[in-house]
Amino acid sequence: MSRLKVKEKLEKLKIRVSNSSLRDILRTKNLSKKREETIAAAPESTADGTFAINAHARHLHPDSLRLVVRDIEERLEGGAKSYLLVADGGGPLPGFRAGQYLSFRFESGGSNVTRAYSICSSPADAANGFYIVTVKRTPGGFAGNALLDSLKIGDKIVSSAPEGNFFHEKLRDGDDILAIAGGSGITPFVSMAGAIRDGAEDFGLTLLYGAKDRGGLLYREQLDRISAVCGRVRVVYVLEEGADADKGEESGFITADIIRKYKPEGDCGVFVCGSAAMKRYIRGQLAELGVPSGRIRAEGSPFDGDLTEQPGYPKADGLPDTFPLTVRLGLVETVIEARRDEPLLVSIERAGIAAPSRCRSGECGWCRAKIVSGDVYVPPEYDVSRRRMDREFGYAHICCTFPLSPVTVEISYT
Ligand code: FES
Repeated sequence: MSRLKVKEKLEKLKIRVSNSSLRDILRTKNLSKKREETIAAAPESTADGTFAINAHARHLHPDSLRLVVRDIEERLEGGAKSYLLVADGGGPLPGFRAGQYLSFRFESGGSNVTRAYSICSSPADAANGFYIVTVKRTPGGFAGNALLDSLKIGDKIVSSAPEGNFFHEKLRDGDDILAIAGGSGITPFVSMAGAIRDGAEDFGLTLLYGAKDRGGLLYREQLDRISAVCGRVRVVYVLEEGADADKGEESGFITADIIRKYKPEGDCGVFVCGSAAMKRYIRGQLAELGVPSGRIRAEGSPFDGDLTEQPGYPKADGLPDTFPLTVRLGLVETVIEARRDEPLLVSIERAGIAAPSRCRSGECGWCRAKIVSGDVYVPPEYDVSRRRMDREFGYAHICCTFPLSPVTVEISYT
């Protein structure tokens, strides 16, 4: 139908339309005819699925990444190493929020294990094709130390995409963050400082960084360089030994008094990263200052305290050191030995069984599994992310679940 005829019809119906609306009506009117013509002209074979939008989505949110070690920098006299990682095949890497981590999957001593490490480079560096992570030696550590000893320049490693929720959210955290770091817990904050300098993040960062002495500080030079040129980043070093007040260093531990002295005005977000013991201690100091627990975000190492001192842990007297653990994977059942003081996930990995995991600190839910039978214990501070229905129906995050009797666990890979 011509433009004129459509106009006449509309006038008969006493409908007045502008010229531009008339154009739209005519376009719509012909849509179905055009669609039929396009379908008729299309080849009979199915589309090959390589749509640009799908490729872009896969690049931004890959299931896993294949990375290559391009460079290694020794820190703390070999007690830690920073790895510069690029994509196997080159090109830009998926972006991330400063504070997120990568979970590496590798084989160690016949076991398939994962270990999570915060990205300490700036998000801007991902677009330039690299991430940097720092691995610190842990006394008695099992897979992390092996990785530190074996990973060389040119080696390939499989990693998750950047993961985690330990990043600034303006609505929740406001304009400022008070960050409290212990030891290698500094790494996510190094990324945040770099992101603020590069304009990738927009908040004020006050960082209290505690260590035994100056030799135990990671990334001091880099942090000092950033704070010298970026007024929104302030770093205060708190040293147990050898603090120099003339250099602005504080002496001792990060106490409530020190936190009060440097905390930004108003309701800032408080981010804590370090060992389990350090996080427990800092929570106590923040409670003294009346900081609501909802304001605090904590990330860091897996549980490393004394289980028997945890709230609700039963009397350990008479309990054996190990229990049989039956692991169900589909139709296959394997019985292994689980240590009472070790999370079920670690026992499963030690037995060479690959189980899904990422954060290893109870937060992400990747290790969620059904406890089919048996008694288990979860330290309350590592049990904040488990859903209520999961508690009710016997699902646990096995990276921080400990056996109290013979246990059967069902692992699902979906
Ligand atoms: S691995 Fe993240 S909750 Fe267990």
